[in-house]
Amino acid sequence: MNEMKKINLIVNDKTYQLEVDIRESLLDVLRNRLHFTGVKEGCSVGECGACTVLIDGVPTSSCIYLAVFADGKKIRTIEGLEKDGKLSKVQQNFIDEGAIQCGFCTPGIVMTTTALVESGNKFTDEEIKREISGHFCRCTGYQKIFDAVKKSLDDK
Ligand code: FES
Ligand code: FES
Repeated sequence: MNEMKKINLIVNDKTYQLEVDIRESLLDVLRNRLHFTGVKEGCSVGECGACTVLIDGVPTSSCIYLAVFADGKKIRTIEGLEKDGKLSKVQQNFIDEGAIQCGFCTPGIVMTTTALVESGNKFTDEEIKREISGHFCRCTGYQKIFDAVKKSLDDK
């Protein structure tokens, strides 16, 4: 029999109380139960970065993070970045730099970039590349993504 547990997830500043199977990933709960479909499922094994969300500000692969571990934590998804109908600066930079093609990888990279910007730290080009190296993109060839991340860090 499946073991269930009651948890509170704080997603984009709203608290959701739900009962989850202790084996359920945070990705499955966000997408299938709470309908945050901006969180993408790629590899499902922690390698592609498509499912990245911020947990207490830290970019995290939600496919390999159990929902029960997120109990009481603050989760941010791409849906939480827009304010009053306006995209965040990072989202707008990805559009302006042409860093989006099919868009499947985009929410994850935008979340990681948001965490880099909010850290307030400075990054060299090599450090930027390392920070986004956990994200796979099949379309863009990465240069435009790099440009969008760099612009976001220069903009702040
Ligand atoms: S779907 Fe989670 S890292 Fe690929
Ligand atoms: S834009 Fe298609 S995978 Fe990155």
